[in-house]
Amino acid sequence: MTSKLITPFIIFLFSSILNLFIKSSNASTTYNVLSFGAKPNGQIDATQSFLNAWRAACTSVEPSTIYVPKGRYLIKEATFRGPCKSKITVKIDGTLVAPLDYWGIGNSGYWILFIEVNGISVIGGSIDAKGDGFWACRKSGNNNCPVGARSITFNWANDVVVSGLLSINSQVTHLVINSCNNVMVKNVKVIAPDQSPNTDGIHVQSSTNVTIIGCRIKTGDDCISIGPGTRNLWMEKILCGPGHGVSIGSLGREYEEDGVQNVTLSYSIFTGSDNGLRIKSWARPSTSFVKNINYRNIVMKYVDNPIIIDQNYCPNNKDCPQQTSGVKINDVIYKNIEGTSTTEVAMNFDCSPSNPCQGIQIQDIKLTYMNKKAKSFCNNIQGTKKGVIWPATCI
Ligand SMILES: *[C@@H]1O[C@H](CO)[C@@H](O)[C@H](O)[C@H]1NC(C)=O
Ligand SMILES: *[C@@H]1O[C@H](CO)[C@@H](O)[C@H](O)[C@H]1NC(C)=O
Repeated sequence: MTSKLITPFIIFLFSSILNLFIKSSNASTTYNVLSFGAKPNGQIDATQSFLNAWRAACTSVEPSTIYVPKGRYLIKEATFRGPCKSKITVKIDGTLVAPLDYWGIGNSGYWILFIEVNGISVIGGSIDAKGDGFWACRKSGNNNCPVGARSITFNWANDVVVSGLLSINSQVTHLVINSCNNVMVKNVKVIAPDQSPNTDGIHVQSSTNVTIIGCRIKTGDDCISIGPGTRNLWMEKILCGPGHGVSIGSLGREYEEDGVQNVTLSYSIFTGSDNGLRIKSWARPSTSFVKNINYRNIVMKYVDNPIIIDQNYCPNNKDCPQQTSGVKINDVIYKNIEGTSTTEVAMNFDCSPSNPCQGIQIQDIKLTYMNKKAKSFCNNIQGTKKGVIWPATCI
């Protein structure tokens, strides 16, 4: 054999070995919940099998996948705790169902909880909390209902992805992002009836760098609610309604409270929702604030309150603080927002007399009241306007 042939052969051999090495360093172990005893029949409690699969994945030094095949899995309160040794992907082709009796998860506060996990992705799947029994208890005025469970929560987690998940009929909030950094929520769907109480779609709080893209939310409370300590939140291509809109707040519940800053919502459509773009705070002193908010390219279809700042927030007018809100609202941009309001006041700015809203910019707004002229309302607000503005504004 001449060296002419040997050299390419050695190069080939070397690159194959290199390839093999690269592949094995990326290898990912898969833990199928069925091999941990889970039964996909929706009848036999699969909680422990899921927790055992989690323990295996969490102690794996290589990135791993927990796989949930097609089928229905009965899951009771389940806490998936970190820190883990490596990244974990939970790939779900099936549906996780809560027990039919709402007491089964109702006193836990959390149904599916991920806590202190870094590098966690939840891909696909459906979760059905079967919340209707719980709502019926709440609506009946019975004082003996449990507190209710959020369906899926991430607490103190970083580098989180939730993609393609469907959440059905949560008892209370569907998806909670609390005290997390770097979170991507993508193509998530939320479905609960219009009249289901406190069923927020996605709640973000005390978290930085959260992105929510391409989500369709139909529910009984806020589609997205944004609590104290939210920074750098990006929301895009959100379909909301029925629901109570995308809400910042309510803020000023506490005196010492962190604020909300740098939030963007764009290319979104509200359909038949109670509110569109809402900022709300209680009328009492607080250190909280709202600043650098950017709403742009939004369509409103038959929305009760398309644009609203409510610094006298007090649902049901019960035990209202009856002071003035300490929450400072600064630098909010509303740009290119059009559609229909079902109430005459399409743009409602009720700001605090002690802390007027400042730096409010409105540009290119076309909102009508069912083909008639809409109105705007302003209290304690300072700002600028540009372009076409319907209804003519009092700013
Ligand atoms: C948020 O993202 C920015 C830009 O990517 C980054 O510099 C910053 O460290 C992130 N913050 C946190 C708390 O992860
Ligand atoms: C605001 O948030 C966006 C992400 O939503 C981020 O890219 C940007 O850097 C943030 N701006 C500041 C000043 O932190």
